[in-house]
Amino acid sequence: MSEIWVELGDRSYPIVIGARLSEKAPALLKTAGLSEAPLLIVTDESVAAAQAETLDGWHNLPGHRTELVVLPPGEETKSLRCFSMLLDRIAAFDEGDGAAIVAFGGGVIGDLSGFTAACYKRGIPWVQVPTTLLAQVDASVGGKTAINHPSAKNLVGAFHQPRIVVADMSTLSTLPSRELRSGLAEVVKHGVIEDAVFFHRIEQTMPQALAVDPAVLEDYVESSCRIKARIVGEDERDTGGRRALLNYGHTFGHAIELAAHFNYAHGEAIAIGMACAGDLSVRLGLWPAADARRVEAALVAAGLPVSAQNTELARVMEAMRLDKKFENGLNRFILAHGIGHVEIHKNLPDEMILETLRGRIEMTV
Ligand SMILES: NC(=O)c1ccc[n+]([C@@H]2O[C@H](COP(=O)([O-])OP(=O)(O)OC[C@H]3O[C@@H](n4cnc5c(N)ncnc54)[C@H](O)[C@@H]3O)[C@@H](O)[C@H]2O)c1
Repeated sequence: MSEIWVELGDRSYPIVIGARLSEKAPALLKTAGLSEAPLLIVTDESVAAAQAETLDGWHNLPGHRTELVVLPPGEETKSLRCFSMLLDRIAAFDEGDGAAIVAFGGGVIGDLSGFTAACYKRGIPWVQVPTTLLAQVDASVGGKTAINHPSAKNLVGAFHQPRIVVADMSTLSTLPSRELRSGLAEVVKHGVIEDAVFFHRIEQTMPQALAVDPAVLEDYVESSCRIKARIVGEDERDTGGRRALLNYGHTFGHAIELAAHFNYAHGEAIAIGMACAGDLSVRLGLWPAADARRVEAALVAAGLPVSAQNTELARVMEAMRLDKKFENGLNRFILAHGIGHVEIHKNLPDEMILETLRGRIEMTV
């Protein structure tokens, strides 16, 4: 078992990483100052079915009054309707005795539960038990919570740090392989943005990761959390520029995700986005083509796509213009200067972006 701290003054919290952590839940909750807190445990139907035993461990915690909320799986659950329903549940559960919310699931359950915890009574404590690789290496770290609005993803949200993140590696054993690969995209991203040594390790161990080797996945989660925790500690509210570095591949990726009508899973779209960002970095002479090829090879080894099919270029450009990461209509990209070193670049010529996309998008009319 290892522990990484997100250092945020009086909002600091540990990310605990290890196997069968539900057995240690009482001690972990004590560390988080929630020894006897009543716990509203939120999950989705697929996680509840796949991880019944681990979930039972949390549901039947000695010394805690608990209740379980099981929501439908999928992005649609990050809705105003589910948020409102969850508020009803926590209001009914809360007896004024310090109730907390436990998010037991992937990024969808984490974002919705965290946002509910942020809003109810202007903020109650919450605990993240991420059960997808993507949530363990990314979504559960940093306190960004949100639900979707019909006009845009993650439009309604709040910063609300959890009291503790419990990354139980045992939960990954039932993760569908497409979800595993989606999380691997963010792992590769962490190597590219901050840590060349870690990236080299990823290159060497990807086959074991795909075979769900616990030691390799634990290394990926620990190294990724260390990188993200450090960046979040320096720029909690995404105002200083540091946190934006985590968006490597995301400007292209989100636009492709939208333009392809969500036919690509989030991590798949980010993988294509990273390939585009790598190409653009080569085009600008920021890093050698050989580095871009190494990243592309790591993504391919993870079973991820590096080009988009059935996607209209014009729609990608349009989606990019509407991206909330653009400032005053000026584009903003995170580009690579080497493996382990990325920087923000603004206001690049449209023609250069178009050329980059042409190389990665197979157009259909
Ligand atoms: N808050 C943040 O900083 C942040 C960062 C990145 C992504 N996100 C958000 O995270 C969401 C995506 O998260 P995700 O990829 O974890 O998706 P998800 O929560 O939808 O989980 C993916 C699928 O895997 C299933 N699943 C989860 N754990 C399982 C397990 N252990 N065994 C079997 N099945 C399991 C779920 O039921 C779901 O069907 C998006 O909404 C995205 O916006 C948030």
